[in-house]
Amino acid sequence: MQIPTVPRWRSLVNATRFVANPAIVLTEYIREFGPTFYVYIGGMKKGVVTIEPHIIQHFLQKNNRNYRKSAIQVDRLGHFLGQGLLTSDGDYWLRQRRLIQPGFHRAKLEGLREIMQEVIDEFADSLQEEARKGTEIEVAHKMMELAFRVVARSLFSADLLEAKLQELSQAITALQSFIVRQIRQPYLNPWFYVSGALRRHERIARDADQIILDVIRERRQAKGEQNDLLQMLLDVRYEDTGEPMTDRQLLDESKIIFVAGHETTANALAWTWYLLSRHPEVVVRIREELERVTGGNNPGFADLHRLEYTASVIEESMRLYPPAWITDRQANEADEVGDLKIPKDAIVVPFIYGVHRSERLWEDPEAFNPDRFAKEEKSRMPAYSYMPFGGGPRLCIGNSFAMMEMQMILATILRRFDIELVPDQTIEAQPLVTLRPRYGIRMRFKPLTAPLVQMT
Ligand code: HEM
Repeated sequence: MQIPTVPRWRSLVNATRFVANPAIVLTEYIREFGPTFYVYIGGMKKGVVTIEPHIIQHFLQKNNRNYRKSAIQVDRLGHFLGQGLLTSDGDYWLRQRRLIQPGFHRAKLEGLREIMQEVIDEFADSLQEEARKGTEIEVAHKMMELAFRVVARSLFSADLLEAKLQELSQAITALQSFIVRQIRQPYLNPWFYVSGALRRHERIARDADQIILDVIRERRQAKGEQNDLLQMLLDVRYEDTGEPMTDRQLLDESKIIFVAGHETTANALAWTWYLLSRHPEVVVRIREELERVTGGNNPGFADLHRLEYTASVIEESMRLYPPAWITDRQANEADEVGDLKIPKDAIVVPFIYGVHRSERLWEDPEAFNPDRFAKEEKSRMPAYSYMPFGGGPRLCIGNSFAMMEMQMILATILRRFDIELVPDQTIEAQPLVTLRPRYGIRMRFKPLTAPLVQMT
Protein backbone atom coordinates (compact mmCIF):
# COMPACT_ATOMS: atom_id res chain seq x y z
CA MET A 1 0.00 0.00 0.00
CA GLN A 2 1.20 3.46 -0.91
CA ILE A 3 1.87 5.66 2.13
CA PRO A 4 0.21 9.04 1.50
CA THR A 5 2.06 12.35 1.58
CA VAL A 6 0.54 15.56 2.87
CA PRO A 7 1.11 17.90 -0.07
CA ARG A 8 3.76 20.52 0.58
CA TRP A 9 1.29 23.35 -0.09
CA ARG A 10 -0.97 22.02 2.68
CA SER A 11 1.88 22.23 5.20
CA LEU A 12 2.62 25.78 4.07
CA VAL A 13 -1.04 26.88 4.16
CA ASN A 14 -1.38 25.34 7.62
CA ALA A 15 1.90 26.72 8.96
CA THR A 16 0.32 29.35 11.24
CA ARG A 17 -2.38 26.98 12.50
CA PHE A 18 0.30 24.38 13.08
CA VAL A 19 2.32 26.72 15.30
CA ALA A 20 -0.86 27.64 17.24
CA ASN A 21 -1.93 24.03 17.79
CA PRO A 22 0.01 21.24 16.06
CA ALA A 23 -2.10 18.51 17.70
CA ILE A 24 -5.27 19.73 15.94
CA VAL A 25 -3.61 19.92 12.52
CA LEU A 26 -2.00 16.47 12.90
CA THR A 27 -5.35 15.01 14.00
CA GLU A 28 -6.98 16.45 10.85
CA TYR A 29 -4.24 14.90 8.71
CA ILE A 30 -4.81 11.51 10.34
CA ARG A 31 -8.50 11.73 9.53
CA GLU A 32 -7.74 12.60 5.94
CA PHE A 33 -4.58 10.64 5.15
CA GLY A 34 -4.73 7.72 7.59
CA PRO A 35 -2.63 6.66 10.59
CA THR A 36 0.78 7.02 8.93
CA PHE A 37 1.79 9.66 6.43
CA TYR A 38 4.71 11.62 5.09
CA VAL A 39 4.77 15.31 5.76
CA TYR A 40 7.11 18.18 4.93
CA ILE A 41 8.40 19.35 8.29
CA GLY A 42 8.63 23.13 8.30
CA GLY A 43 7.57 22.94 4.61
CA MET A 44 11.02 21.54 3.75
CA LYS A 45 12.23 18.20 5.04
CA LYS A 46 10.23 15.03 4.46
CA GLY A 47 9.33 13.27 7.67
CA VAL A 48 6.95 10.56 8.87
CA VAL A 49 4.15 11.01 11.36
CA THR A 50 2.45 7.94 12.76
CA ILE A 51 -0.04 6.72 15.35
CA GLU A 52 0.41 3.03 14.50
CA PRO A 53 1.70 1.12 17.53
CA HIS A 54 3.77 -1.43 15.59
CA ILE A 55 5.58 1.31 13.65
CA ILE A 56 6.25 3.31 16.82
CA GLN A 57 7.53 0.15 18.48
CA HIS A 58 9.88 -0.31 15.53
CA PHE A 59 11.32 3.21 15.97
CA LEU A 60 11.57 3.24 19.75
CA GLN A 61 12.34 -0.37 20.51
CA LYS A 62 12.85 -3.00 17.83
CA ASN A 63 15.21 -0.97 15.64
CA ASN A 64 16.03 1.76 18.16
CA ARG A 65 19.72 1.66 17.28
CA ASN A 66 18.90 3.16 13.89
CA TYR A 67 17.11 6.12 15.42
CA ARG A 68 18.87 8.92 17.23
CA LYS A 69 17.29 11.77 19.12
CA SER A 70 16.59 14.69 16.81
CA ALA A 71 18.71 17.83 16.75
CA ILE A 72 15.84 19.69 18.45
CA GLN A 73 16.21 17.60 21.57
CA VAL A 74 19.96 17.20 21.59
CA ASP A 75 21.21 20.60 20.36
CA ARG A 76 18.56 23.11 21.36
CA LEU A 77 17.91 21.70 24.83
CA GLY A 78 21.55 20.71 25.20
CA HIS A 79 22.83 24.22 24.54
CA PHE A 80 21.38 25.39 27.84
CA LEU A 81 20.97 22.17 29.75
CA GLY A 82 24.22 20.44 28.93
CA GLN A 83 24.70 16.77 28.17
CA GLY A 84 22.44 14.74 30.40
CA LEU A 85 20.28 11.67 29.82
CA LEU A 86 17.62 13.51 27.86
CA THR A 87 20.04 15.41 25.63
CA SER A 88 22.74 12.83 24.88
CA ASP A 89 22.90 9.95 22.48
CA GLY A 90 24.90 6.89 21.48
CA ASP A 91 27.57 5.37 23.70
CA TYR A 92 27.73 8.31 26.10
CA TRP A 93 23.98 8.11 26.75
CA LEU A 94 24.09 4.31 27.23
CA ARG A 95 26.90 4.55 29.77
CA GLN A 96 25.06 7.25 31.72
CA ARG A 97 21.76 5.38 31.57
CA ARG A 98 23.34 2.17 32.92
CA LEU A 99 24.96 4.16 35.69
CA ILE A 100 21.88 6.09 36.78
CA GLN A 101 19.07 3.59 36.12
CA PRO A 102 19.45 1.63 39.39
CA GLY A 103 18.91 4.84 41.36
CA PHE A 104 15.39 5.07 39.97
CA HIS A 105 14.32 1.50 40.66
CA ARG A 106 11.18 1.21 42.71
CA ALA A 107 12.96 -0.12 45.75
CA LYS A 108 15.32 2.89 45.76
CA LEU A 109 12.36 5.21 45.60
CA GLU A 110 11.18 4.03 48.98
CA GLY A 111 13.87 6.24 50.50
CA LEU A 112 12.40 9.27 48.72
CA ARG A 113 8.83 8.73 49.94
CA GLU A 114 9.38 10.54 53.19
CA ILE A 115 10.96 13.59 51.52
CA MET A 116 8.11 13.74 49.02
CA GLN A 117 5.43 13.44 51.70
CA GLU A 118 7.00 16.29 53.65
CA VAL A 119 6.88 18.61 50.64
CA ILE A 120 3.31 17.57 49.81
CA ASP A 121 2.15 18.10 53.40
CA GLU A 122 3.69 21.58 53.45
CA PHE A 123 1.86 22.31 50.24
CA ALA A 124 -1.46 21.04 51.62
CA ASP A 125 -0.97 23.17 54.74
CA SER A 126 -0.39 26.26 52.62
CA LEU A 127 -3.52 25.43 50.62
CA GLN A 128 -5.60 25.29 53.80
CA GLU A 129 -5.66 29.06 54.27
CA GLU A 130 -6.50 29.78 50.64
CA ALA A 131 -9.16 27.09 50.74
CA ARG A 132 -10.73 28.53 53.87
CA LYS A 133 -11.05 31.91 52.20
CA GLY A 134 -12.42 30.35 49.01
CA THR A 135 -9.58 31.86 46.96
CA GLU A 136 -9.49 30.91 43.29
CA ILE A 137 -6.40 28.91 42.44
CA GLU A 138 -4.80 28.41 39.06
CA VAL A 139 -3.89 24.77 39.37
CA ALA A 140 -1.42 24.47 36.48
CA HIS A 141 0.78 27.10 38.09
CA LYS A 142 0.33 25.64 41.57
CA MET A 143 1.22 22.16 40.39
CA MET A 144 4.31 23.55 38.67
CA GLU A 145 5.49 25.01 41.99
CA LEU A 146 4.69 21.82 43.85
CA ALA A 147 6.35 19.49 41.33
CA PHE A 148 9.43 21.72 41.22
CA ARG A 149 9.74 21.52 44.98
CA VAL A 150 9.30 17.75 44.98
CA VAL A 151 12.13 17.37 42.46
CA ALA A 152 14.34 19.94 44.22
CA ARG A 153 14.04 18.23 47.59
CA SER A 154 14.29 14.72 46.13
CA LEU A 155 17.55 15.78 44.52
CA PHE A 156 19.09 18.00 47.16
CA SER A 157 17.13 17.40 50.41
CA ALA A 158 17.15 20.72 52.25
CA ASP A 159 20.59 21.80 50.94
CA LEU A 160 19.03 24.26 48.55
CA LEU A 161 17.94 27.25 50.60
CA GLU A 162 14.55 28.78 49.83
CA ALA A 163 15.95 31.91 48.12
CA LYS A 164 18.19 29.80 45.89
CA LEU A 165 15.34 27.43 45.13
CA GLN A 166 13.23 30.37 43.94
CA GLU A 167 16.12 31.71 41.86
CA LEU A 168 16.69 28.33 40.27
CA SER A 169 13.01 27.82 39.57
CA GLN A 170 12.80 31.21 37.83
CA ALA A 171 15.95 30.52 35.85
CA ILE A 172 14.75 27.12 34.65
CA THR A 173 11.33 28.56 33.70
CA ALA A 174 13.00 31.42 31.77
CA LEU A 175 15.33 29.03 29.96
CA GLN A 176 12.55 26.63 29.06
CA SER A 177 10.39 29.34 27.53
CA PHE A 178 13.36 30.72 25.61
CA ILE A 179 14.13 27.25 24.24
CA VAL A 180 10.47 26.90 23.20
CA ARG A 181 10.72 30.20 21.28
CA GLN A 182 13.91 29.06 19.58
CA ILE A 183 12.28 25.82 18.48
CA ARG A 184 8.97 27.28 17.36
CA GLN A 185 10.26 30.45 15.75
CA PRO A 186 13.67 29.42 14.39
CA TYR A 187 13.66 32.44 12.01
CA LEU A 188 14.05 34.65 15.09
CA ASN A 189 17.39 33.06 16.06
CA PRO A 190 19.52 35.72 14.30
CA TRP A 191 17.46 38.33 16.13
CA PHE A 192 17.98 36.60 19.49
CA TYR A 193 21.70 36.78 18.77
CA VAL A 194 21.75 40.44 17.69
CA SER A 195 19.38 41.67 20.40
CA GLY A 196 21.44 40.08 23.16
CA ALA A 197 18.58 37.73 24.23
CA LEU A 198 20.77 34.70 23.60
CA ARG A 199 23.61 36.07 25.72
CA ARG A 200 21.17 37.09 28.48
CA HIS A 201 19.82 33.55 28.64
CA GLU A 202 23.32 32.09 28.57
CA ARG A 203 24.06 34.23 31.61
CA ILE A 204 20.90 32.97 33.34
CA ALA A 205 22.04 29.40 32.57
CA ARG A 206 25.49 30.06 34.05
CA ASP A 207 23.97 31.51 37.24
CA ALA A 208 21.70 28.49 37.56
CA ASP A 209 24.70 26.20 37.05
CA GLN A 210 26.53 27.97 39.84
CA ILE A 211 23.66 27.41 42.30
CA ILE A 212 23.70 23.68 41.57
CA LEU A 213 27.49 23.41 41.54
CA ASP A 214 27.65 25.05 44.98
CA VAL A 215 25.27 22.42 46.36
CA ILE A 216 27.31 19.60 44.77
CA ARG A 217 30.61 20.90 46.16
CA GLU A 218 29.25 21.51 49.63
CA ARG A 219 27.82 18.01 49.67
CA ARG A 220 31.14 16.52 48.60
CA GLN A 221 32.88 18.33 51.44
CA ALA A 222 30.23 17.59 54.05
CA LYS A 223 30.61 13.87 53.33
CA GLY A 224 27.24 13.49 55.02
CA GLU A 225 25.03 10.62 53.99
CA GLN A 226 21.74 11.93 52.64
CA ASN A 227 19.05 9.74 51.27
CA ASP A 228 18.41 11.75 48.11
CA LEU A 229 19.03 11.60 44.37
CA LEU A 230 22.20 13.70 44.55
CA GLN A 231 23.69 11.24 47.00
CA MET A 232 22.80 8.42 44.65
CA LEU A 233 24.45 10.29 41.75
CA LEU A 234 27.55 10.95 43.87
CA ASP A 235 27.84 7.37 45.04
CA VAL A 236 27.50 5.49 41.76
CA ARG A 237 30.62 4.27 39.95
CA TYR A 238 31.23 3.38 36.31
CA GLU A 239 31.46 -0.36 35.94
CA ASP A 240 34.54 -0.24 33.69
CA THR A 241 36.68 2.37 35.48
CA GLY A 242 35.28 2.37 39.01
CA GLU A 243 35.27 6.20 38.77
CA PRO A 244 32.45 8.46 39.94
CA MET A 245 30.88 11.23 37.81
CA THR A 246 32.63 14.59 37.53
CA ASP A 247 31.03 17.77 38.86
CA ARG A 248 30.10 18.79 35.31
CA GLN A 249 28.33 15.46 34.74
CA LEU A 250 26.53 15.72 38.08
CA LEU A 251 25.47 19.24 37.16
CA ASP A 252 24.14 18.24 33.74
CA GLU A 253 22.26 15.20 35.02
CA SER A 254 20.74 17.25 37.87
CA LYS A 255 19.56 19.94 35.45
CA ILE A 256 17.98 17.33 33.20
CA ILE A 257 16.19 15.74 36.15
CA PHE A 258 14.83 19.18 37.09
CA VAL A 259 13.61 19.93 33.61
CA ALA A 260 12.32 16.48 32.66
CA GLY A 261 10.88 15.85 36.08
CA HIS A 262 8.70 18.80 36.98
CA GLU A 263 6.76 20.28 34.09
CA THR A 264 5.57 16.90 32.83
CA THR A 265 4.32 15.84 36.24
CA ALA A 266 2.78 19.27 36.90
CA ASN A 267 0.77 19.15 33.70
CA ALA A 268 -0.39 15.59 34.33
CA LEU A 269 -1.61 16.70 37.76
CA ALA A 270 -3.32 19.85 36.47
CA TRP A 271 -5.28 17.85 33.91
CA THR A 272 -6.11 15.23 36.52
CA TRP A 273 -7.60 17.88 38.83
CA TYR A 274 -9.61 19.20 35.91
CA LEU A 275 -10.99 15.76 35.03
CA LEU A 276 -11.74 14.98 38.67
CA SER A 277 -13.65 18.24 39.09
CA ARG A 278 -15.91 17.08 36.25
CA HIS A 279 -16.25 13.54 37.59
CA PRO A 280 -17.15 13.65 41.27
CA GLU A 281 -18.08 9.95 41.12
CA VAL A 282 -14.39 9.20 40.46
CA VAL A 283 -13.35 11.26 43.48
CA VAL A 284 -15.74 9.19 45.61
CA ARG A 285 -14.09 5.98 44.39
CA ILE A 286 -10.57 7.30 45.07
CA ARG A 287 -11.60 8.17 48.63
CA GLU A 288 -13.18 4.77 49.13
CA GLU A 289 -9.97 3.13 48.00
CA LEU A 290 -7.92 5.34 50.32
CA GLU A 291 -10.12 4.39 53.27
CA ARG A 292 -9.81 0.72 52.43
CA VAL A 293 -6.07 0.65 51.79
CA THR A 294 -4.61 3.21 54.16
CA GLY A 295 -7.34 3.42 56.78
CA GLY A 296 -7.55 7.10 55.91
CA ASN A 297 -3.89 7.94 56.44
CA ASN A 298 -1.34 9.17 53.97
CA PRO A 299 -0.19 6.16 51.96
CA GLY A 300 2.99 4.40 53.01
CA PHE A 301 5.30 3.01 50.34
CA ALA A 302 3.76 -0.45 50.47
CA ASP A 303 0.27 1.04 50.10
CA LEU A 304 1.06 2.71 46.81
CA HIS A 305 0.86 -0.38 44.64
CA ARG A 306 -2.45 -1.26 46.27
CA LEU A 307 -3.94 2.12 45.33
CA GLU A 308 -4.81 0.64 41.96
CA TYR A 309 -7.82 2.76 41.18
CA THR A 310 -5.93 5.97 42.01
CA ALA A 311 -3.18 4.84 39.63
CA SER A 312 -5.81 4.09 36.94
CA VAL A 313 -7.19 7.62 37.28
CA ILE A 314 -3.73 9.10 36.67
CA GLU A 315 -3.11 6.73 33.76
CA GLU A 316 -6.43 7.60 32.14
CA SER A 317 -5.74 11.28 32.63
CA MET A 318 -2.37 10.88 30.88
CA ARG A 319 -4.11 8.98 28.07
CA LEU A 320 -6.33 11.99 27.33
CA TYR A 321 -3.67 14.57 28.13
CA PRO A 322 -0.23 13.01 27.67
CA PRO A 323 2.24 15.63 28.98
CA ALA A 324 4.83 14.40 26.46
CA TRP A 325 2.29 14.58 23.63
CA ILE A 326 4.80 13.87 20.86
CA THR A 327 8.36 12.73 20.42
CA ASP A 328 10.73 12.43 17.50
CA ARG A 329 13.76 10.58 16.22
CA GLN A 330 16.02 10.81 13.20
CA ALA A 331 16.99 7.83 11.04
CA ASN A 332 20.73 7.06 10.94
CA GLU A 333 20.28 4.90 7.85
CA ALA A 334 17.43 4.28 5.41
CA ASP A 335 14.92 1.81 6.84
CA GLU A 336 11.62 0.06 6.08
CA VAL A 337 8.64 -0.99 8.14
CA GLY A 338 6.26 -2.92 5.86
CA ASP A 339 5.30 -0.51 3.06
CA LEU A 340 6.75 2.46 4.87
CA LYS A 341 10.11 3.57 3.52
CA ILE A 342 12.18 5.82 5.76
CA PRO A 343 14.95 7.76 4.02
CA LYS A 344 18.28 8.27 5.79
CA ASP A 345 18.15 11.26 8.14
CA ALA A 346 14.32 11.52 7.93
CA ILE A 347 12.57 12.69 11.08
CA VAL A 348 10.05 10.18 12.41
CA VAL A 349 7.33 11.40 14.73
CA PRO A 350 5.38 9.14 17.07
CA PHE A 351 2.30 11.30 17.70
CA ILE A 352 1.51 10.08 21.21
CA TYR A 353 -1.57 12.29 21.68
CA GLY A 354 -3.02 10.86 18.46
CA VAL A 355 -2.29 7.26 19.54
CA HIS A 356 -4.08 7.81 22.83
CA ARG A 357 -7.19 9.22 21.16
CA SER A 358 -7.34 6.86 18.19
CA GLU A 359 -10.71 5.21 17.51
CA ARG A 360 -8.86 2.22 16.10
CA LEU A 361 -7.30 1.57 19.48
CA TRP A 362 -9.78 2.86 22.05
CA GLU A 363 -13.51 2.52 22.50
CA ASP A 364 -15.11 5.93 22.92
CA PRO A 365 -11.65 7.52 23.07
CA GLU A 366 -12.79 10.98 24.15
CA ALA A 367 -14.50 9.65 27.31
CA PHE A 368 -12.74 9.73 30.68
CA ASN A 369 -12.98 6.21 32.03
CA PRO A 370 -10.30 5.09 34.52
CA ASP A 371 -11.66 1.53 34.46
CA ARG A 372 -9.88 1.07 31.13
CA PHE A 373 -6.75 0.71 33.26
CA ALA A 374 -8.08 -1.96 35.60
CA LYS A 375 -5.51 -4.77 35.84
CA GLU A 376 -7.27 -7.28 33.57
CA GLU A 377 -8.04 -4.62 30.91
CA LYS A 378 -4.47 -3.40 30.93
CA SER A 379 -3.05 -6.79 30.17
CA ARG A 380 -5.12 -6.82 26.94
CA MET A 381 -3.78 -3.50 25.64
CA PRO A 382 -1.67 -3.84 22.49
CA ALA A 383 1.98 -2.83 22.98
CA TYR A 384 2.62 0.84 22.23
CA SER A 385 -1.07 1.77 22.23
CA TYR A 386 -0.46 3.64 25.50
CA MET A 387 2.87 5.35 26.04
CA PRO A 388 2.85 8.47 28.21
CA PHE A 389 6.41 7.64 29.30
CA GLY A 390 7.65 6.72 25.82
CA GLY A 391 9.07 3.25 25.21
CA GLY A 392 12.11 1.13 24.46
CA PRO A 393 15.52 1.78 26.00
CA ARG A 394 14.81 5.51 26.29
CA LEU A 395 11.65 4.99 28.32
CA CYS A 396 11.29 7.73 30.92
CA ILE A 397 13.69 6.94 33.74
CA GLY A 398 11.45 8.82 36.19
CA ASN A 399 8.20 6.94 35.45
CA SER A 400 7.91 5.19 38.84
CA PHE A 401 9.05 8.37 40.59
CA ALA A 402 6.30 10.33 38.80
CA MET A 403 3.56 7.76 39.46
CA MET A 404 4.49 7.58 43.14
CA GLU A 405 4.54 11.37 43.44
CA MET A 406 1.21 11.80 41.69
CA GLN A 407 -0.52 9.09 43.73
CA MET A 408 0.75 10.70 46.92
CA ILE A 409 -0.41 14.16 45.86
CA LEU A 410 -3.90 12.96 44.94
CA ALA A 411 -4.20 11.01 48.18
CA THR A 412 -2.97 13.83 50.41
CA ILE A 413 -5.12 16.54 48.82
CA LEU A 414 -8.30 14.49 48.51
CA ARG A 415 -8.09 13.52 52.19
CA ARG A 416 -8.30 17.17 53.12
CA PHE A 417 -10.10 19.03 50.36
CA ASP A 418 -13.01 19.00 47.98
CA ILE A 419 -12.39 20.45 44.57
CA GLU A 420 -14.57 22.70 42.45
CA LEU A 421 -13.99 24.06 38.96
CA VAL A 422 -14.61 27.80 38.62
CA PRO A 423 -17.50 28.01 36.10
CA ASP A 424 -17.40 29.82 32.74
CA GLN A 425 -13.78 29.45 31.78
CA THR A 426 -12.21 28.19 28.58
CA ILE A 427 -10.15 25.07 29.06
CA GLU A 428 -7.98 24.26 26.10
CA ALA A 429 -4.88 22.14 25.58
CA GLN A 430 -1.80 23.90 24.28
CA PRO A 431 0.78 21.51 22.93
CA LEU A 432 4.15 23.17 23.54
CA VAL A 433 7.09 21.04 24.66
CA THR A 434 4.57 19.57 27.10
CA LEU A 435 0.78 19.60 26.87
CA ARG A 436 -0.32 22.55 28.99
CA PRO A 437 -3.70 24.12 29.64
CA ARG A 438 -3.50 27.23 27.40
CA TYR A 439 -5.37 29.57 29.75
CA GLY A 440 -4.69 27.68 32.96
CA ILE A 441 -7.37 25.93 35.03
CA ARG A 442 -9.03 27.89 37.82
CA MET A 443 -10.37 25.94 40.75
CA ARG A 444 -11.35 26.24 44.37
CA PHE A 445 -10.21 23.78 47.00
CA LYS A 446 -12.62 23.54 49.93
CA PRO A 447 -11.61 22.13 53.30
CA LEU A 448 -13.60 18.97 53.90
CA THR A 449 -16.24 19.88 56.48
CA ALA A 450 -16.45 16.39 57.89
CA PRO A 451 -12.91 15.16 57.29
CA LEU A 452 -13.15 11.83 55.66
CA VAL A 453 -10.21 10.64 57.62
CA GLN A 454 -8.32 11.34 60.76
CA MET A 455 -5.09 13.26 60.15
CA THR A 456 -1.80 11.62 60.78
C1 HEM B 1 4.10 12.48 34.35
C2 HEM B 1 5.40 12.68 34.37
C3 HEM B 1 6.35 12.36 33.25
C4 HEM B 1 6.11 12.08 31.93
C5 HEM B 1 4.77 12.05 31.22
C6 HEM B 1 7.39 11.82 31.30
C7 HEM B 1 7.57 11.46 29.98
C8 HEM B 1 8.77 11.13 29.41
C9 HEM B 1 8.94 10.64 28.07
C10 HEM B 1 7.83 10.40 27.05
C11 HEM B 1 10.26 10.41 27.88
C12 HEM B 1 10.91 9.83 26.62
C13 HEM B 1 11.13 10.86 25.57
C14 HEM B 1 11.59 10.27 24.25
O1 HEM B 1 11.64 9.06 24.08
O2 HEM B 1 11.88 11.06 23.37
C15 HEM B 1 10.95 10.78 29.09
C16 HEM B 1 12.31 10.73 29.29
C17 HEM B 1 12.94 11.10 30.46
N1 HEM B 1 12.34 11.45 31.64
FE1 HEM B 1 10.38 11.60 31.98
N2 HEM B 1 8.38 11.94 32.25
C18 HEM B 1 7.79 12.26 33.47
C19 HEM B 1 8.42 12.43 34.67
C20 HEM B 1 9.77 12.36 34.88
C21 HEM B 1 10.42 12.51 36.16
C22 HEM B 1 9.69 12.73 37.49
C23 HEM B 1 11.76 12.43 35.93
C24 HEM B 1 12.90 12.50 36.91
C25 HEM B 1 12.77 12.59 38.20
C26 HEM B 1 11.94 12.21 34.51
C27 HEM B 1 13.16 12.08 33.88
C28 HEM B 1 13.32 11.73 32.56
C29 HEM B 1 14.63 11.55 31.94
C30 HEM B 1 15.99 11.76 32.61
C31 HEM B 1 14.38 11.15 30.62
C32 HEM B 1 15.43 10.80 29.56
C33 HEM B 1 15.68 9.31 29.64
C34 HEM B 1 16.66 8.81 28.60
O3 HEM B 1 16.61 9.24 27.45
O4 HEM B 1 17.43 7.92 28.96
N3 HEM B 1 10.71 12.17 33.92
N4 HEM B 1 10.02 11.20 30.02
